[in-house]
Amino acid sequence: MEKYVIQGGRPLHGEVEISGAKNAAVAIIPAALMVHGTCRLENLPEISDTDTLLHILTYLGARVNMINRTTVEIDCTHVQMDILPERMWALTRKIRASYYLIGAMLGRFGRARTTMPGGCNFGVRPIDQHIKGLTALGADMDVSGGFITAGCPAGRLRGTTIYLDKVSVGATINIMIAAATAEGRTVIENVAREPHIVDLANFLNSMGADVRGAGTDTIKIRGVKQLHGGSYALIPDQIEAGTYMAAVAAAGGAVRVSNVIPKHLECISSKLREMAVEVEEGDDYVLVRRDGPLHRANLKTMPYPGFPTDMQPQMAAVLCCAPGNSTVTEGVWAGGRFKYVGELKKMGAQIEVEDQSAFIQGVDKLTGSVVKACDLRAGAAVVIAGLAAEGVTEVEDIIYIERGYQDLVGKFRALGADIRCVQVPEHSRSANWNAG
Ligand code: EPU
Repeated sequence: MEKYVIQGGRPLHGEVEISGAKNAAVAIIPAALMVHGTCRLENLPEISDTDTLLHILTYLGARVNMINRTTVEIDCTHVQMDILPERMWALTRKIRASYYLIGAMLGRFGRARTTMPGGCNFGVRPIDQHIKGLTALGADMDVSGGFITAGCPAGRLRGTTIYLDKVSVGATINIMIAAATAEGRTVIENVAREPHIVDLANFLNSMGADVRGAGTDTIKIRGVKQLHGGSYALIPDQIEAGTYMAAVAAAGGAVRVSNVIPKHLECISSKLREMAVEVEEGDDYVLVRRDGPLHRANLKTMPYPGFPTDMQPQMAAVLCCAPGNSTVTEGVWAGGRFKYVGELKKMGAQIEVEDQSAFIQGVDKLTGSVVKACDLRAGAAVVIAGLAAEGVTEVEDIIYIERGYQDLVGKFRALGADIRCVQVPEHSRSANWNAG
């Protein structure tokens, strides 16, 4: 087991290159199950969530060939299995995205069975919209005993019109994957519009699917018989980029965040500008600079193009260092997603949570402490706080952070941060690897 040790108070300088998007990768890898032939994926992030999914595909009979650290070739031509055997359940229970295997297997075999997924614990994470959509496509769905079982009596799914009652990234993705090879036309209304939804549509289309409208609130899919092999490069990670931008805001300095799509970062850039952080956009980079005091701000998370919930904890960490009162309101997750607040308080932050909002009173300085990563983005928040704080911060349970951030320590060190990953004796902590 390992932890991060951060000596805070050093401004960040230099350039950081952003990796491929985690939430696109975890949708596209399961979708590769639909492909008859080899698909080559480039700009794949090197994180534990993608490793887990590639392992699952290998167990299912796919040939997975790592060409280099971020390029993989996946050949699912000979995959026969539509039921995940018991030895894979520990893997499917680790991550949220394992439920995309249901859409992919249903589309490919007309049958599927897997465990309920894992994922960051934000309270209740219903899957009713996934079930509604797949049922509408003609699948019999059963969720019981910790498993999701799906069967299509007609053999092949049938296109139809589906209206999502709630804007859901996961349900939009699962239904898109399944509908890619359904008979006829599927229209999905009130869908999520996140950049990784568009990326999945582009991936499916480059493998022969006919998906239109991704990025708007209606997606139309004309089902094709089967998908063929091809090559696809994933988009850069909006949230990883935002995390480095927030780190510069908190610790100060000047950093070029490169290999990004600035358009995907607009709401983050504009909120940071409101907080007196300079953000300059280039073609595929943003320059972020902060040398004066931060300004207070309020923010509310919303589905894309609103402010991303996956940046909420990191921005709250920054606002802890901004003089005055700020309010952070969670508009996506009913549970509030505020588990990191207790950790930031250990560092001297003044935050009170009420319902869906965190009320922050900025302090002069945060101070180093022993804290833990409660989940992926909560972990990023305490790292950011540690970089800005006076003294030493130890971050435990970093396994959550490594699910979603490629080489976080290496990237921050290259920016001049004093952060190290050190071994913790096995008996001193008990990690619970449950993520997504
Ligand atoms: N919801 C329902 N019914 C459903 C599905 C969702 O009511 O069937 C509700 C949820 O309870 C939530 C809202 O709809 O209130 C949005 O949930 P969504 O389905 O969009 O979330 P998700 O697909 O489970 C993905 C990301 C999360 C990110 C959310 C929102 C992956 C693997 N996970 O989760 O990412 O927070 O979208 O953008 O793509 C992260 O990367 O740290 C992370 C947690």
